[in-house]
Amino acid sequence: FWTNVPKGLSDPILGISEAFRKDHYQRKVNLGIGAYRDDDGNPWTLPSVAKAKEIILNSNLDHEYLPTEGLNTFRKTAALLAYGQCPEISENRIASVQSLSGTGALRLGMAFINRFYPHHKVIYVPKPTWTNHKNIARDSGLEVREYSYYDPDTKGLDFYNLLRDINEAPRNSIILLHACAHNPTGQDPTQEQWAEIHDVITRRQHLAFFDMAYQGFASGNPDDDAYGLRYFVKEQNSVLLAQSFAKNFGLYAERIGLFSVITDSSAETDRAVSQLKILGRAMYSNPPLYGARIVSTVLNTPELYKQWHKDLLTMSGRIKDMRVALVEKLKEKGSRHNWNHIANQIGMFAYTGLNPDQSHNLMTKNHVYLTLDGRISIAGLNTKNVEYVAEAIDSVTRN
Ligand code: LMR
Repeated sequence: FWTNVPKGLSDPILGISEAFRKDHYQRKVNLGIGAYRDDDGNPWTLPSVAKAKEIILNSNLDHEYLPTEGLNTFRKTAALLAYGQCPEISENRIASVQSLSGTGALRLGMAFINRFYPHHKVIYVPKPTWTNHKNIARDSGLEVREYSYYDPDTKGLDFYNLLRDINEAPRNSIILLHACAHNPTGQDPTQEQWAEIHDVITRRQHLAFFDMAYQGFASGNPDDDAYGLRYFVKEQNSVLLAQSFAKNFGLYAERIGLFSVITDSSAETDRAVSQLKILGRAMYSNPPLYGARIVSTVLNTPELYKQWHKDLLTMSGRIKDMRVALVEKLKEKGSRHNWNHIANQIGMFAYTGLNPDQSHNLMTKNHVYLTLDGRISIAGLNTKNVEYVAEAIDSVTRN
């Protein structure tokens, strides 16, 4: 039956982890996948999450199915965390369903667009973007196009062309925006630039779809990281939003996220949720419970909420320190290139500017793993390996 099934390509991000696992070199370093590590290179359970787990364990809860829309206490606080207190919340104008992390939220949102969006089903994603965005959009039946985002010469936002491309996109296009900590470039719009992006999107009657995978993880402050999203909502835009709690709670495997969409009325919210449930039921029936319980417990327990803010600062602070340390070490090694962009970028990743050959050499010659576009996960650096990584980067960028 399946003789015609061709072998698929390995995923450009997950495939790097597979290669890393096969490498037996002792000093190997994984800067591929975006997953937080502590200064010893180990996965980190947030203290706020550890306490929430204790509370949940001691409550002796059952393992019944969640409803398809998910855990209500989680949905409410997750939306509040993203949008802040706003009329859309008090007027029941946010339709939300729990999702299988950010990917699941994007998938539900795009399936919803495909089924109900009354205009052409074209989504514009930044160039470059997280590689999975295109997979999800394509498998959801949307046509994918790109808008300019990054200028390799300035190593900054290509803002002029970004605005031009969004302006030239056919009216009523869907525009995917990274809410903060753009993956892979680490370049976010400034507040003024958010306002300009918003103006063009509104003028062209586009619909913004925010992907917020790093709220609080980027700056350490969840409100600051939600600036762009909240600006759009305040200006009365109907947005779609995918939230992930993988990075900001360290809950990678729990697959906990939320998809939401702003509606015009409470009645519209009820109708939208009813349809999202139909989509979810056919895809996975109902979402997993544990991550929802953890996030809900942290966000709804004042003491844990405070601790979570400290945890965010621990993670974002260590990442900022590692950015600076890597740039310093590269200077110490005598690299003639300017690496300052690594210190200035934001979020989990640095977009180093290494080309695919250099990235490939870094892996095969130095056992330092990264995606071929030159993206490194700063979270994989620590005080013990940063010098080794700097030496390796220097060695593949000489000449
Ligand atoms: C990444 O970009 O490395 C992370 O978002 C993990 C993933 O699923 O790709």
